[in-house]
Amino acid sequence: MDSSAFITTRDLRKTFAMGRMRVHALAGVDIDIPEKSFTVIMGPSGSGKSTLLYLFGGLDRPTSGVLTVNGFDLNGLDENALAVYRRNTVGFVFQQFNLVSSMTALENVAFPLRFAGIPGAARTKRAKELLEQVGLDTHMRHRPVEMSGGQQQRVAIARALVNNPALILADEPTGNLDTSTGYGIMQQLSELHQGGRTVVVVTHDPRMLRFASHTLYLLDGRLVSREQFEAASITPEVGSGPEAGAAVAETGEAQAGETSN
Ligand SMILES: Nc1ncnc2c1ncn2[C@@H]1O[C@H](COP(=O)(O)OP(=O)(O)O)[C@@H](O)[C@H]1O
Ligand SMILES: [Mg+2]
Repeated sequence: MDSSAFITTRDLRKTFAMGRMRVHALAGVDIDIPEKSFTVIMGPSGSGKSTLLYLFGGLDRPTSGVLTVNGFDLNGLDENALAVYRRNTVGFVFQQFNLVSSMTALENVAFPLRFAGIPGAARTKRAKELLEQVGLDTHMRHRPVEMSGGQQQRVAIARALVNNPALILADEPTGNLDTSTGYGIMQQLSELHQGGRTVVVVTHDPRMLRFASHTLYLLDGRLVSREQFEAASITPEVGSGPEAGAAVAETGEAQAGETSN
């Protein structure tokens, strides 16, 4: 096991029961994500990207396998410890922004600090600083419906930063944005990486790769090499279902050490 990795998985599996069917969303994943990297995980819809990111974020638990983040064995944490892990270590950015519609930008960003026991004035001060950092000082009192998609995602990034997490996880953060707005969001995430955080973005958009220090390819719940990924993209029938994907991925040994540029 690579002890310098920030995130390590070994034979990580997540299986969902759908009636009598079992969906192998993650079918045995071995990853080492270096600390302070900007890792982009590419995969088509249904390949297990969100499932993987939710496990990294402690939002869900694996079915089996090893999952270590920043030295914590997430499998071994009870619910309380997992909540502390989420609060102290992780900032999550979602495709749908997931802002509270009745709250202003300022309130959305300050909200998570309530659970950290920080007094109101200090919460507001911190939220203002972060909204300034993402270029939204003019929109502190706006509600989500009064902002564009790009502005809402900036609020979501500010909220993700509010507890000063070492790890930023973003699930298709540009998926609901036009190209130039999405580019701005990726630049924002890139700045967080340059500021010393570990950033993991999952996406099916190859334009995101230019920002990556490390790239991984996910197909039907398994890591595959770039060559396998590209071959599967050219012939859509390969890797179209879990069984086909498992066969494709049999020799997949892609690791986070592979750089994209
Ligand atoms: N809660 C769930 N219950 C049942 N199946 C799920 C659940 N979440 C994800 N899946 C299935 O697991 C596979 C991977 O899903 P997901 O991680 O959302 O993929 P992606 O984010 O790459 O589109 C899909 O086949 C999906 O239908
Ligand atoms: Mg997804």
